[in-house]
Amino acid sequence: MDSIVVTGNGPLSGQIPIAGAKNACLTLMPATLLSDEPLTLTNAPRLSDIKTMTELLSSLGCEVSSLQDGQVLVMSSHDLDNHVADYDIVRKMRASNLVLGPMLARLGHAVVSLPGGCAIGARPMDLHIQGLEALGAEIELRDGYLHANAPNGLKGAKVSFGFASVGATENVLMAATLARGTTVLENAAREPEIVDLATCLRRMGAQIEGDGTGTITIQGVDRLGGATHPVVTDRIELGTYMLAPAICGGEVECLGGRIDLVGAFCEKLDEAGISVSETDKGLKVARKNGRIRSVNVTTEPFPGFPTDLQAQMMALMCTAEGISVLEEKIFENRFMHAPELTRMGAQIDVHGGTATVTGVERLKGAPVMATDLRASVSLLLAGLAAEGETVVSRVYHLDRGYEQVVRKFEGMGAKIERVSNR
Ligand code: EPZ
Repeated sequence: MDSIVVTGNGPLSGQIPIAGAKNACLTLMPATLLSDEPLTLTNAPRLSDIKTMTELLSSLGCEVSSLQDGQVLVMSSHDLDNHVADYDIVRKMRASNLVLGPMLARLGHAVVSLPGGCAIGARPMDLHIQGLEALGAEIELRDGYLHANAPNGLKGAKVSFGFASVGATENVLMAATLARGTTVLENAAREPEIVDLATCLRRMGAQIEGDGTGTITIQGVDRLGGATHPVVTDRIELGTYMLAPAICGGEVECLGGRIDLVGAFCEKLDEAGISVSETDKGLKVARKNGRIRSVNVTTEPFPGFPTDLQAQMMALMCTAEGISVLEEKIFENRFMHAPELTRMGAQIDVHGGTATVTGVERLKGAPVMATDLRASVSLLLAGLAAEGETVVSRVYHLDRGYEQVVRKFEGMGAKIERVSNR
């Protein structure tokens, strides 16, 4: 099992390329199930989660070709020969549940294992089920699998989500493209990954309006064709790398970064004393003069502060001046990075969904353990500025969502290496 060793090495500088979005690619790939013509994705990220989705789609009979070192994915669902998404794959990655809506719409039936919980929460699927049943699906939970049937096809309907769930919006949006008639999604998720999915579906012939707002309207069509679509920039990878110069000092340019993808996040960086400027290549980030100031953060659905950047922001707040209160409103257990940061000398008090961070002058390197994808990278960020050496173990979590993470941090001048069996 690999570890990553990082040593505080002063201010950073350099240009970092930002990859295509993991969370866009994981919903764009299942969209191939909606059509018998090829779907090609460019700017795809090279991540283990993409490999897992490839494995799942292949198990259903899709042909998936990975070209140009994994940055181009060519998929064909012409010959689907299996409609069961097996537990062994689904339990590895919750996003596997995004094959449910498209498979049901295309084949009229689908059997998808419930993903089960994960480190950050129970991750139920009640909103996915509610939305698909509103379109006429009959869904039964049996032996840990959702058995979904739409013997007469799907019919457009109004679906009001009790919570703006990203995955439920994606599953129902994809299913609705082939439903008879009109579907209106109310309190739909507004994330950029939803807009990216809708853009790709329109390229395939779908009729969708309102994506990016809370109300999405879909006119069902008889069939969808093939398309070629570039995966949108990864706003979570972007925000993560923007925090590196914020924590260490220096100036870094994130190539491909777009301010519209990280609006609420940049407001908090500005409040904390970090400058973000748009360049013709992306976003340039530098610490303004003096120590970082503590800020309060509450995670919310887009366009609010993203839960996927909460752990990374906490790493910044550990050495900020003052007291910062971070409220995690999206997941029930997303502070597992806190005790690890405490091992490095951070002062963090967690009560339920609220973490109170009292800034200290500097953290001290220590052996720490990665527990989930975003917690892992927050420990790396903390280690970049800590005094001495930090060894982050179980870094397989990182490989799920950060391509070439060591090389990218090295590209900024960080002292970092990946070691095996540490
Ligand atoms: C997506 O997960 C992302 N994953 C997550 O990123 C991200 O944290 C999350 O959206 C919120 O932005 C992918 O896109 C692959 P949700 P998803 O449905 O779709 C509850 C990362 O680090 N809920 O918006 O699962 C749920 O339990 C990952 O890249 C229900 O109660 O998120 C959670 O508390 C982590 N019932 C909240 O809503 C449901 O039917 C948010 O879930 C569905 C969700």
